[in-house]
Amino acid sequence: MLKEAIATRFITPLREGGSLPGLVEADDLGTYVLKFTGAGQGRKTLVAEVVVGELARRLGFRVPRLVTLALDPVLGLGEPEQQVQDLLRGSGGANLGMDFLSGALGFDPLAFTVDPREAGRIVWFDALVNNVDRSWRNPNLLMWHGDLWLIDHGATMIWHHNWPGAEASAARPYDASDHALARFRPDVEAAAAHLAPLVTEDLLAEVTAEIPDVWLAGEPGFATPDDLRRAYVRPLHARAAVIHDRINGIEGTK
Ligand SMILES: Nc1ncnc2c1ncn2[C@@H]1O[C@H](COP(=O)(O)OP(=O)(O)OP(=O)(O)O)[C@@H](O)[C@H]1O
Ligand SMILES: [Mg+2]
Repeated sequence: MLKEAIATRFITPLREGGSLPGLVEADDLGTYVLKFTGAGQGRKTLVAEVVVGELARRLGFRVPRLVTLALDPVLGLGEPEQQVQDLLRGSGGANLGMDFLSGALGFDPLAFTVDPREAGRIVWFDALVNNVDRSWRNPNLLMWHGDLWLIDHGATMIWHHNWPGAEASAARPYDASDHALARFRPDVEAAAAHLAPLVTEDLLAEVTAEIPDVWLAGEPGFATPDDLRRAYVRPLHARAAVIHDRINGIEGTK
């Protein structure tokens, strides 16, 4: 399971994000971006952040450290804005915290270049997890101390919104034509050759073990959180072997 911290002060909402994440301080003296369990799609977004973020980290990508952040809704009482108050009040208990990369710049595909190897690794990974939120309009990539960091993996693994159809959904191709890194001649073949063999059932079991039980409990059709963890493993494992052949919309691929 992810490490736990307790939010001690709400600093400000981060207005760039559609889901209105917050910036908070915690009892471990960390400053975190807090993703609310009471926002939009709720806890499935947070589960996706954990599975995809922790998988990315283990494959060698830079991803800010993740924790669960316990939130006492009382922290929101002084918030002047109704929408922020509502989020804080509706998100008591476990939320997701992500290390705040202070001073990071949003990646701009027109201002930075990325080499084809790194672009290939990121495009392949986004295809694997079906990330629809890494477009040139909204790259969800940060530049920090000269390196590229991956954030915002809530809109991935669309199949976890409909488990009975998950296998069919995960068999579909990935459209990379809008991808933020499509213009950098991503070498997805090299990335697949290196990364696909690393995506084993054991690694995926390790990753899904990080998901807090409270975000898994009560899913229709699954008796226990561990049953649901196993359901997250299957589509990713199957997709790792084949997805490089099913990436549409970038040069050199179909
Ligand atoms: N770990 C971080 N360190 C620094 N800044 C961050 C971090 N996480 C997010 N941000 C900033 O906050 C913005 C919103 O975060 P994020 O994209 O995760 O939220 P979202 O609500 O899911 O956004 P979206 O509108 O893309 O759906 C980012 O674009 C970035 O500018
Ligand atoms: Mg975002």
